[in-house]
Amino acid sequence: MDPQLARVLDDLYQEGRAHDGPLADRLLRLRNMTPDAARLIALLIHVGRGTSVLEIGTSNGYSAIWFADAVRDTGGRLTTVEIDETRVAAALRNLERAGVGAHVDVVHGDGADVLAKTADGSVDLVVLDAERPAYVEYWPRLRRVLKPYGVLAVDNAVSHREQVADFRELLTAAPEFSVQLHEVGDGVLTAARVREAD
Ligand SMILES: C[S@@+](CC[C@H](N)C(=O)[O-])C[C@H]1O[C@@H](n2cnc3c(N)ncnc32)[C@H](O)[C@@H]1O
Repeated sequence: MDPQLARVLDDLYQEGRAHDGPLADRLLRLRNMTPDAARLIALLIHVGRGTSVLEIGTSNGYSAIWFADAVRDTGGRLTTVEIDETRVAAALRNLERAGVGAHVDVVHGDGADVLAKTADGSVDLVVLDAERPAYVEYWPRLRRVLKPYGVLAVDNAVSHREQVADFRELLTAAPEFSVQLHEVGDGVLTAARVREAD
């Protein structure tokens, strides 16, 4: 990674930690993904040559900068969805600050609605980093939009293991997906579409 971009990411991560530290209300925190988790997902974009990446839960754009840097290399595009308008504005500023804004569409809206409007078999990689109880409801749409060999990556699968347990069961029951838990950062659960459905 370009050293200047690495410095921006490092500064932003430290700013996020300082912002979140004193806040008791989880919803007020920026809750940036750990650098290790974001690095793993960026690696998946690179090795899969992913050109169509969708993130649900942008916050201030920290993880989006990692993924935008990866899609810049693959010649692709990142769409990242955030429900909070103030955070959309912060993400747009941070993506520009990192010099990757040209590779990203920041959508202000609900991830469920964006998934509903996404074409069948059109996405290489979906990142879920929003409200975990909603993921079960997302599943039919996620299953529909992922390309063959597409990957779903879910953050906080170790830190909030119980909150993703039902969703993990759904993934594991889908015969066309290979599911793995990576003990990286707060835990990244991946489900890769490796075969045709029965
Ligand atoms: C854990 S933070 C995302 C952190 C971000 N991925 C990062 O690493 O910087 C979760 C974000 O999801 C947003 N969110 C919650 N529900 C959402 C939904 N249904 N659609 C889109 N965004 C949502 C929240 O407003 C919050 O900013």
